[in-house]
Amino acid sequence: MKHIVGSEYNIHINNWSALKDTISAIQPSQVFVLVDENTEKYCLHQLFEHIELQVRIIRIPSGERNKTIETCQHVWSDLLRKGADRHALMLNLGGGVIGDLGGFCAATFMRGIPYIQIPTTLLAQVDASLGGKTGVDFGGFKNMIGLIQQPLAVFVYTDYLETLPDEHMKSGFAELLKHGLIADKNEWQTLSKSNLDSLEFENIVYQSLLIKKAVTDQDPGEKGVRKILNFGHTIGHAVESYWMDSRTPLLHGEAVAIGMVSEAFLSYRVGNISETDLFDIRNSIIKLYGHHPKYVKPAEQLLDLMKSDKKNYKGEYRFSLLQSIGRAEYDVAVASEFVEESLLFYKERIG
Ligand SMILES: NC(=O)c1ccc[n+]([C@@H]2O[C@H](COP(=O)([O-])OP(=O)(O)OC[C@H]3O[C@@H](n4cnc5c(N)ncnc54)[C@H](O)[C@@H]3O)[C@@H](O)[C@H]2O)c1
Ligand SMILES: [Zn+2]
Repeated sequence: MKHIVGSEYNIHINNWSALKDTISAIQPSQVFVLVDENTEKYCLHQLFEHIELQVRIIRIPSGERNKTIETCQHVWSDLLRKGADRHALMLNLGGGVIGDLGGFCAATFMRGIPYIQIPTTLLAQVDASLGGKTGVDFGGFKNMIGLIQQPLAVFVYTDYLETLPDEHMKSGFAELLKHGLIADKNEWQTLSKSNLDSLEFENIVYQSLLIKKAVTDQDPGEKGVRKILNFGHTIGHAVESYWMDSRTPLLHGEAVAIGMVSEAFLSYRVGNISETDLFDIRNSIIKLYGHHPKYVKPAEQLLDLMKSDKKNYKGEYRFSLLQSIGRAEYDVAVASEFVEESLLFYKERIG
């Protein structure tokens, strides 16, 4: 059992009684639990075993393709139908899709009801559940509609990872690696050489949350330092978006793994990191995720997608880059030739 106290909300790890106490403390008129078919099957019973409260279930279908405004309409309608008022509480039990969409529905229903995040994927436990970013995809763009609204609290239960499919474990692991690269060299060194099956997650998730929490607390509105969390994500998001509707889409973390290799190259190309560090990053990530050159094509379209990235300014390419392993900087303007070179760097088979 561990916890992290924050200025706006607390994060509890593997503590069921804290969840019970948090719910009782606000005396909600009703408690709603948002699930998808997988979290209903694998995660809901543990919640019932530990909190003896009457709850109403709201179900949505799983998957990124359902992270839409239509699904929100279903959630809002269900809340209304089940008599939710402004004192209702939402528990979002699921991965990043449930957390982002459920948080958005709660933040907008009757101008906002409180919500609690109970992330059940590794990605959501170390990343998506923290920082209050909520929203849905729209018009072919990820997370285009949304707002920043902090949860009442976050409850992480690492036992939930036991039923998570391997590819989703690996996808979430990319965010752990990223936290090491941008803020904790030791964490990078340990995790990048480890075997996912033998890790003890309570401690690892805790360390990673400390990093994300420290960064988001300093800059909740993403005006400055919070942008370092986007390392690997400018190229990663372009690759993820381009292949999203193909027959071989990538999971978020798989795309971010490619993005981190390419953006490590940019960090090297602007004179920040050494060639040794660059190859340490490249080889470690490719060992864990494999080498998939087809995804960094076609460069022209990927560059176009990067131009429309929310983080860019006046059509310039701006990146969050490593200053060294364990330190990062943000808003670094990078020439388009370098970006193209970074895709080529990923593509080459070396060693
Ligand atoms: N808000 C943020 O700051 C933030 C940060 C990163 C990512 N995200 C968002 O998170 C989303 C991706 O999250 P994700 O990877 O968790 O995807 P997801 O929510 O789609 O979950 C992945 C799959 O695992 C299933 N699942 C969840 N928990 C399970 C469990 N314990 N056992 C078995 N199956 C389980 C789900 O039903 C789903 O099929 C994206 O939409 C992304 O934009 C948000
Ligand atoms: Zn991410």
